[in-house]
Amino acid sequence: MTVVGPVTEVVRAGGEHIPDLLDRVESRLAQVAGGHGATLAEHASATIAAGGKRLRPLLVFLAADGADGDGLVRAGTAVELVHSATLVHDDVLDGASLRRGMPTVVATGGRPAATATGDLLFARAFAELARNGRADQVRVLSDASSALAAGELLQRADAWNASVAMARYLRRCELKTARLFEAACRLGALEAGAEPEALGEFGRRIGLAFQLLDDVLDVSGPAARTGKHRGTDLLDGTVTLPFILAREHDPELAALDPRTIDSAAAAERVCDRIEATGALARARARALGMVEDAKGALPAGLSARQRHALELVADGVVARYA
Ligand code: IPE
Ligand code: IPE
Ligand code: MG
Ligand code: MG
Repeated sequence: MTVVGPVTEVVRAGGEHIPDLLDRVESRLAQVAGGHGATLAEHASATIAAGGKRLRPLLVFLAADGADGDGLVRAGTAVELVHSATLVHDDVLDGASLRRGMPTVVATGGRPAATATGDLLFARAFAELARNGRADQVRVLSDASSALAAGELLQRADAWNASVAMARYLRRCELKTARLFEAACRLGALEAGAEPEALGEFGRRIGLAFQLLDDVLDVSGPAARTGKHRGTDLLDGTVTLPFILAREHDPELAALDPRTIDSAAAAERVCDRIEATGALARARARALGMVEDAKGALPAGLSARQRHALELVADGVVARYA
């Protein structure tokens, strides 16, 4: 697997066993996605093969500081499968046509195929993790998956509401994104026989920052860098931090009904307007603050190597372009 940019640094800091663990996850993902009938295999394999940062398996491994058994590979694979499943379903809900620089499953195969592909990936995730024979691990992943579903529902419930409260926005980010980051860290800790609470809290905090940054990238683009179309959130009525902050500084944005944003060109214009208020820098600053809090919450007693690698990954969450 090719890893570029800051991720390379994290992999190096995490230890020599990390690239091997990531390679083993990659092989397992390809096997799992390819093995369930031609149509599903085509869509599931395309989703996996399109790549992605593999950030969640990396977190599993860093949280497990030094462990490198098959159980860890299964945990990393399971988390990435849940993540991929939610992306396939998320693109149905968000009406998104581009993902990881490729057409989405819903764009190429339609809604039924995307629904079934996501379901398959979810099912395989739990089958994979169950092989570890640890009810506590299955519970961690299942709690995160339930939170994800609740987060997506909250997002739909708040769709088109330009004056959504900040607390509700943050709750949505927590449910749909932060909980899976938390689960990744908990699984790594459990597999290594370590205490999962504190590392889980670290994961939750960087997960929150990660979603804030994702929402910034949706407005800033460009698609060539993010692998997703600019303004997708505005077009499907998802009101996020940049828009919430920009409305405080631009009366025209404050008066804008998101339902009137009805084309990619209109979304681009609103993105430019949001950017002009300085809201992206303010949103980034908030995410940075969360990352600093997360680093501060790292437990005492970690090895110097583990602390350094986790700090690097936390920094990478806000210093990214995809
Ligand atoms: C995208 O996650 C979904 C969010 C939680 C914002 P990633 O940005 O980690 O997606 P990939 O796996 O790298 O494509
Ligand atoms: C994260 O939210 C979605 C999931 C947790 C599945 P987004 O809807 O912002 O993610 P992207 O931008 O489509 O990757
Ligand atoms: Mg989406
Ligand atoms: Mg997004």
